Amino acid sequence: MRDRIVTGEATNNEEDTAQLSLRPQYLSEYIGQQELREKLKVTLDASRGRNEAAEHILFYGPPGLGKTTLAHIIANEMKAKAYATAGPALKRSGDLMGILTNLKDGDILFIDEIHRLSPVIEEFLYPAMEDFKVDFVVDKGAFAKVINVPLKRFTMVGATTRAGMLSAPLRDRFGIYYHIDFYPPEDLEQIIIRSAGLLKSEIKTEAARSISLRARGTPRIANRLLRRVRDYADVKGDGIITEEMAVKALDAEGVDQMGLDDLDRKLLRVVIEFYKGGPVGIEALGATLNEEIDTLVDMVEPYLLKIGFLRRTRQGRMASPEAAKHLGMKLPSGSQADMF
Ligand code: ADE
Repeated sequence: MRDRIVTGEATNNEEDTAQLSLRPQYLSEYIGQQELREKLKVTLDASRGRNEAAEHILFYGPPGLGKTTLAHIIANEMKAKAYATAGPALKRSGDLMGILTNLKDGDILFIDEIHRLSPVIEEFLYPAMEDFKVDFVVDKGAFAKVINVPLKRFTMVGATTRAGMLSAPLRDRFGIYYHIDFYPPEDLEQIIIRSAGLLKSEIKTEAARSISLRARGTPRIANRLLRRVRDYADVKGDGIITEEMAVKALDAEGVDQMGLDDLDRKLLRVVIEFYKGGPVGIEALGATLNEEIDTLVDMVEPYLLKIGFLRRTRQGRMASPEAAKHLGMKLPSGSQADMF
């Protein structure tokens, strides 16, 4: 997978570090997702009032919208520690045992990509989540013994891009589910202004608006674009982030006014030209574009679906007339996509 400036996924460690300093630490600093914030505040206030750990919480939604940030905020609000790991990183129950037995009352265990846990690890987690204990097998063969290890009352925070990919038993062990949706540009604009302040960069409101419109509803992308624009303004201008600087920098990055990059445009072009507007199956699209299906489903499609450029039907993906117009193309007349 090539590096995309507009991907919601974190791209590398360096960027993780850069993101970290921009992350809000408390709910009061968090911009957007108002409904979620209000519900979460009630939950945390109630748990704190009773001096109990919060219920296990599952966040689901596209990458880059703040699931990890929220897990850390929950820990800060509960005056507890957060331990973060990810589904694919947990290979043996021993890995998890170490983490679980270190947790104190109220601590947060954050598992990103929780839909990618192995079945063995999932099974191991059930009693941990439900009864705060784990059954650990020591020794082998005839000497094998199950020891029952009690745990402190921790809060599990799970994150997944697709709730439908979670097994029902695991899903049922979360008391609370929160869907995180794309942010409207107004919220992203505020996030960009806040981040510019933290980066000690002067930014004009119009510049923040310009960036927000290209950030695909995703704070992580907004902050990444902001850093590129800031570099550009430092090198090509006097460091002040004006609208002109923002537009020039983002044009140079190949990010268009709708926040689409080369891969998005290529996908739409293939659907419109090669598949006559669709419908086309995702496997065929993956093969034509030489991209993994998971990449297309998790990182390319959600935003194209959200802005109505793509539609998912039983027969496959279809491009909308708006998508064709955006690319300066026309859907072939008489194509099924014409019926949009
Ligand atoms: N940085 C990234 N996401 C943010 C958010 N939702 N609020 C404030 N700053 C952020």
